[in-house]
Amino acid sequence: MGRAYNFSSGPAVLPAEVLYEAQKFLVDFKGTGVSVMETPHRGKVYGAIREEAAALVKELAGLDDGWSVAFIPGGASMQFAMLPLNFLREGVGADYVCCGTWGGKAFKQAQIAGDANIAADTRKASPAYAPSPAEIRWNPDAAYVHITTNETISGCRMPEIPDPPSPLVADMSSDILSCPRDYSKFSLFYAGAQKNLGPAGAAVVAFRDSFAETCSAAIPEILSYRTYASGRPLYNTPPVWTVYIILLTLRWLKAQGLENVFARNRSKAAKLYAAVDSSGFWRGVARKDCRSLSNVAFRLPSEELEDLFVKQAEAAGMVGLKGHRSAGGIRASIYNAFPEAGVDRLVEFMKEFERRNG
Ligand SMILES: Cc1ncc(COP(=O)(O)O)c(C=O)c1O
Repeated sequence: MGRAYNFSSGPAVLPAEVLYEAQKFLVDFKGTGVSVMETPHRGKVYGAIREEAAALVKELAGLDDGWSVAFIPGGASMQFAMLPLNFLREGVGADYVCCGTWGGKAFKQAQIAGDANIAADTRKASPAYAPSPAEIRWNPDAAYVHITTNETISGCRMPEIPDPPSPLVADMSSDILSCPRDYSKFSLFYAGAQKNLGPAGAAVVAFRDSFAETCSAAIPEILSYRTYASGRPLYNTPPVWTVYIILLTLRWLKAQGLENVFARNRSKAAKLYAAVDSSGFWRGVARKDCRSLSNVAFRLPSEELEDLFVKQAEAAGMVGLKGHRSAGGIRASIYNAFPEAGVDRLVEFMKEFERRNG
């Protein structure tokens, strides 16, 4: 089998150029005689990889020198736990906006660590939607407010990023660097790398140094954002190979141009939503004004037809279309590296499928 069209939500498709580049130097990294996987994490080779990867995140997100970028193992879920441990303390809580499963999971971890409040909750809404800034009730004394810019399971994005009175923190796992955005509005943002930025194994975490300086001194060093601030020596062995592939993916993104990638993402999503809206056979999961550009979630008239759709699509070379196990349905994840030709193929397949089963 050649390369399938991979609609998985993550680990997700990587640019083919990145995979071939990694393959070329897999065994001997540019004449060093060792693989990146075998290179010392405090050596020159990895030092340059890490520095360039962090610099590219800052460049692509338009962040200034007051920011640090870290590659922290444990994925986005580790950030759900790390964040409240760093910033919640006696009498100081945090606000959470929950518009889907992931925001809810982040909130749950904050409740374990301290005082967490729901500022808005649309988790049970159908169709799925994210609250507008006017619907959010902020607590002005919160240590931070947490949002999820794109809920991967329901394919629901926040169309408008709010301006809360407290430092804004975001889980951007499924839409980081997929569109131009004012990243300087945030005090911290993070993403599991395995969707838009590389393979699994790390979260990319960007934070204002001034925000990290306010974090608790009473937590283990490995969990403290201060430990990961720029200029600090590595605390422990990082996932060197994951960071290397993140670097190659960021170089690819820079060469493509974020504006071009965004235009392509919009075009891919528009084609898929047009297919979903083309007849009553399909039903979109998210409200139209909140539709994700990364994850297109939709239903068919029955679960039997959904199973058949996934099976037949796979036989036709399109994998990863099954919705999240908690939600069912179909989900086409079309991150930066997903080719537009794959979307065209899926749209064509949807038409054929409806003709046969509608
Ligand atoms: C928006 C969002 N947040 C958090 C997570 C959890 O990420 P991880 O598996 O890296 O912990 C996911 C996983 O799909 C996600 O989509």
